[in-house]
Amino acid sequence: MEYITIDGGKRLEGQVNINGAKNAAVAIIPAAIASTGICTIDNLPAIKDVQVLVGAMRKLGIGCEFTDEHTLKIDSRAINGHSIAYDQVKDMRASYYLLGALLGRFKHAEVPLPGGCNFGLRPIDLHMKGFEALGAKINIEHGMVTASAERLTGASIYLDISSVGATINIMIAAVYAEGVTQIENAAKEPHVVDTANFLNKMGAKIKGAGTDVIRITGVEGLSGGEYSVIPDQIEAGTYMIASAVTGGDVSVQNIIPKHMDSLSAKLTEMGCQVLENDAHDGLRVIGPEVLKSCTVKTMFYPGFPTDLHPQMSALLSRANGTSVLTETVFEHRFQYVKELLRLGANIQVEGRAVIIEGGSLTGAQVMATDLRAGAALIIAALSAEGRTTIGNVKYLDRGYEKFESKLSALGANISRISVEE
Ligand code: UD1
Repeated sequence: MEYITIDGGKRLEGQVNINGAKNAAVAIIPAAIASTGICTIDNLPAIKDVQVLVGAMRKLGIGCEFTDEHTLKIDSRAINGHSIAYDQVKDMRASYYLLGALLGRFKHAEVPLPGGCNFGLRPIDLHMKGFEALGAKINIEHGMVTASAERLTGASIYLDISSVGATINIMIAAVYAEGVTQIENAAKEPHVVDTANFLNKMGAKIKGAGTDVIRITGVEGLSGGEYSVIPDQIEAGTYMIASAVTGGDVSVQNIIPKHMDSLSAKLTEMGCQVLENDAHDGLRVIGPEVLKSCTVKTMFYPGFPTDLHPQMSALLSRANGTSVLTETVFEHRFQYVKELLRLGANIQVEGRAVIIEGGSLTGAQVMATDLRAGAALIIAALSAEGRTTIGNVKYLDRGYEKFESKLSALGANISRISVEE
């Protein structure tokens, strides 16, 4: 079993480079199945979710070759199957994009119901409704989703919730649907736009990504080509919060500062200085001596991202006064709270909100309960007095590349230890 240990209290200083976005990468890699040429995708993060997806695609006979740590060549010309086994993707959520990609191009897909971080039911009914509207028949049995169609035809699809997954999945499937598909109340997250940009670069006709109406005009085929994934908004946000919590001075580089607006606004409200660099691809976050409390509400983009909720709670645990953070996207995203309590946080769940009375934290033994919960524990541990040992490191490896070495380069006292069970 692996653990991360942190001796808290070190001020973080310096520069950190942000990798490509996990949630864009895990959509674009399966979306490449829609191409009948060779796609070369760079700026991919070297994380577990990418490896798992690539492993599952190789089992289908898809050529996946890393030309370097962050660049993948995908050749789906020799694909020889449309069925994914449970064991191949059980720990990840984004396997659902294989459904849209295989259904779109081959009109048949068998993919297990998704796994991934467990913070609520996380249904995929909207994905299914979208596929059905395009003419697919869906059958869910023994944990497997089978989607098949004679042909797919463009349709008008209204999403009850602006689901990121449903928007991207329907968009990928609709690339080959005859006529025009319109997705209304679509998600506007940066990775929705990035996936649309990738597909368009390969020859798809998608308009409106980034607004709440996306129109896809079906095409006969997609070519191959090269594409570079956008920087990770959530990884960037995690380091910005890490700088704030240690009263540090960290420049977060290779990002799109606009994607960080909701977080930058909150950090400024809490007393941090957030400065854009001259090249407009970085933000410098200087933490104050004393952080101010504030209220936060998670929302769909461009609102405050739910994937920064746990990290933000950890930061608010160190602010002066009472803060309230309300979760509107995932009702049950509070498993991290019991672990923050172990570190001495004064935090309680009230319905869909956490009420946090800021104060000091002390090191303890804790467990990551999901990916972003793990990141929250890292944030808390960085500013806690004494040593914190974090278990279930596998969650962090799903979404953060070189987390310890990047933090260590900024001055954190952090290491990974392996203990025989
Ligand atoms: C994606 C992200 C995840 C992020 C989330 C919200 C990926 C791989 N994961 O997850 O990191 O936290 O967006 O930004 O990109 N819903 C339904 N039915 C559906 C689909 C969703 O009811 O068919 C609900 C969900 O339960 C949730 C809300 O819609 O309450 C938003 O979920 P969604 O945007 O789909 O999140 P994911 O795609 O699972």
